[in-house]
Amino acid sequence: MTEPKRKGPGSPDVTLKALSFIDNLTGQSHIADLGCGTGGQTMTLAKHVQGNITALDLFPDFINIFNHNAKQLGLQDRVKGIVGSMDNLPFQDEELDLIWSEGAIYNIGFEQGLNKWRKYLKTGGYIAVSESSWFTDERPVEINDFWMNAYPEIDTIPNQVAKIHKAGYLPVATFILPETCWTEHYFAPKITAEEIFLTKYAGNKAAEELVGSQRHEEELYRKYKEFYGYTFFIAKKMG
Ligand SMILES: C[S@@+](CC[C@H](N)C(=O)[O-])C[C@H]1O[C@@H](n2cnc3c(N)ncnc32)[C@H](O)[C@@H]1O
Repeated sequence: MTEPKRKGPGSPDVTLKALSFIDNLTGQSHIADLGCGTGGQTMTLAKHVQGNITALDLFPDFINIFNHNAKQLGLQDRVKGIVGSMDNLPFQDEELDLIWSEGAIYNIGFEQGLNKWRKYLKTGGYIAVSESSWFTDERPVEINDFWMNAYPEIDTIPNQVAKIHKAGYLPVATFILPETCWTEHYFAPKITAEEIFLTKYAGNKAAEELVGSQRHEEELYRKYKEFYGYTFFIAKKMG
């Protein structure tokens, strides 16, 4: 499939809103963007912060596109994409001033990510992650079952904030991503990509199933968006 810029819900405005809560960055700062994809949010960050950004993703194809994009924007001297896994990071203890991760911490689980990544941050350093959340204590069976199958660690925002606190961070800000982060920035570009993909693989059952499951995810969102969404959490490592 051709690669849309975003691989999860988000937007440049939301990236900058999350960044507005972070006050420790200088030209010497080292920032990591974990599960960066092709770097939509990384390039937004890079244009608004000084310092170096190391962006990491498991998939070499995404990193190739990432480094190409960084070069196109003239950011290659301080923005580098590397292949790696977020459960085995190539950083020193207390090396990082900021850990960024949009729509990606779920790959190792919210609590595990918070706990495992903490040691790489300097005391007073920040973590900014977006993650799926329940907005209500109860919800219809269909959407509950979908999430229990896809990602059972989804939780309510108060519980997620408590997990941040328990992992040794001071919760600094929490905000829900607006619906346009799903509809305009995530689903809409995917529809074009899906159509190109289906034309290319016409008659291929696996391709049709993949697109079918993506369309199902979108239908569920439209039906149940009052019950769940994405939340940005910004927190500071305490000593
Ligand atoms: C939903 S996408 C989000 C990408 C990007 N941050 C964004 O917001 O557009 C999740 C990303 O996590 C990456 N990923 C999955 N497992 C990973 C792992 N173990 N380590 C690093 N990246 C991983 C995927 O390749 C994918 O690019």
